[in-house]
Amino acid sequence: MSKNCAKNTTACVDSDMTPYINAVRAYTAARAVAPRCFVLTFGCQQNVADSERLAGMAASMGYVITDTPEQADLILVNTCAIREHAEQKALSVVGQYKHLREKNPDLIIGLCGCMVAQEHRRAELKKSYPYVSFTLCTSVLYRLPQYLAEVLEKGKRKIVGEEEHTVAEGCPVRRESNYRAWVSIMYGCNNFCSYCIVPYVRGRERSRAPDDIIAEVKGLVESGYKEITLLGQNVNSYGKDRADGYRFPHLLADLDKIEGDFILRFMTSHPKDATRELIDVMAAGRHIPHSFHLPLQAGSDRILSLMNRHYTREKYLEMISYMREKMPDISITTDIIVAFPSETEAEFEETLDVLRHVRFDMIYSFIYSPRKGTPAAAMEGQIPHDVGAARMNRLLALQNEIADAQNEKLVGQCLRVLSEGESKTDPSTYTGRTDQNKIVFFTDPAREGEWVTVKIERAAAFALYGTKVNKA
Ligand code: SAH
Ligand code: SF4
Ligand code: F3S
Repeated sequence: MSKNCAKNTTACVDSDMTPYINAVRAYTAARAVAPRCFVLTFGCQQNVADSERLAGMAASMGYVITDTPEQADLILVNTCAIREHAEQKALSVVGQYKHLREKNPDLIIGLCGCMVAQEHRRAELKKSYPYVSFTLCTSVLYRLPQYLAEVLEKGKRKIVGEEEHTVAEGCPVRRESNYRAWVSIMYGCNNFCSYCIVPYVRGRERSRAPDDIIAEVKGLVESGYKEITLLGQNVNSYGKDRADGYRFPHLLADLDKIEGDFILRFMTSHPKDATRELIDVMAAGRHIPHSFHLPLQAGSDRILSLMNRHYTREKYLEMISYMREKMPDISITTDIIVAFPSETEAEFEETLDVLRHVRFDMIYSFIYSPRKGTPAAAMEGQIPHDVGAARMNRLLALQNEIADAQNEKLVGQCLRVLSEGESKTDPSTYTGRTDQNKIVFFTDPAREGEWVTVKIERAAAFALYGTKVNKA
């Protein structure tokens, strides 16, 4: 057990997999050419962070990380189960790997992440995807070397749903970026929102020890990382499994004390755990941009209650008012689900009302997707897809108008932007994000990870456009 975990009720395990790493290393070293590993990621930032650990472990076992599945000897698909579409996409990609396996019989394909924690999906994989060698659930991700060693040694498939209620420290990480880093501070979710699969596939909340997180963030800042995002399914319930009362606002305040040139973001917060104390820490922070993602999901109290969200529209609006009072320049974004079972036209209108009232800078919106085993999937009043699609269109039309107007207010301002380098779609343009997490396109060159100041000349609903200016 890690010495830092003494005050956690969650067990911290040592992720040391040395014997298995050595076993796989013996295999990779015996190959004439170093074998390659391709990691494909679906889903949220948690999965992106998990994939960086998968790649880190693969590299530690002698694999060279590749961008092309055709070249790979090991393919790891990190899956998501949040909506039906996410699962179908993953299954369809895995289906396409069948011919790669036919060409290269030594190819090992492993499926990781949220989808494979579901028994019915594993049964499907067992039966219809015989070329998938193993499944690895998120709580035991650090056991990749063990799974791989077993598959290589025994030549047998390992389609299992093994899970642990632990926090594994010390796993190697291969970060995609050298200026932007993801730091998981907790795992799992206790909320059981009635539509959501996450608590079933990621288990109960487990917080990492503060010292481990602080050391990781310090290390990142020292190695030049400029943007650090703290991750958790319900990031602001961090610490509830600790005996010493150390909670998310304390952690955020402690991380904010770190000296250096960096910003600290966090996601995703749950409105029921968004406290005034947290807002106060943000407002007083040195490294914490004024940007908050606070999923609303729905504007009707009846629907919120059916969703098991534990707040009302009024409570949500109160928190928004407090944020704006403390940080008038704050940008606020949210998640919305339309067509939750039994949502009436009038209740959907209540969601539109909240949008008009709050004026979010951006929303992520989803048509409700029934998830097997969740209470909402068994509720009466499931709404036909065309009704959901029509509601979604109305929601987006309204939000576009709002976002347009919100962004228009920024025209003429000089904003600090963390450059992401050349735009992927147009190499003559550079791109980056403002402190408030808005995408900016600008014409003059800037390296990835460089802070620049951009004068905003034009705004659209999803992006700002401007020119780089020298700092005053
Ligand atoms: N833990 C975060 C994010 C969870 S997943 C939170 O609590 O907000 C991201 C978003 O996906 C959710 O906020 C929700 O809007 C959406 N979502 C989750 N389950 C869904 C489902 N079954 N159908 C449609 N959207 C869903
Ligand atoms: Fe899902 Fe709710 Fe947990 Fe978010 S808080 S992951 S929506 S159960
Ligand atoms: Fe998907 Fe799992 Fe994230 S279900 S959204 S990858 S927590």
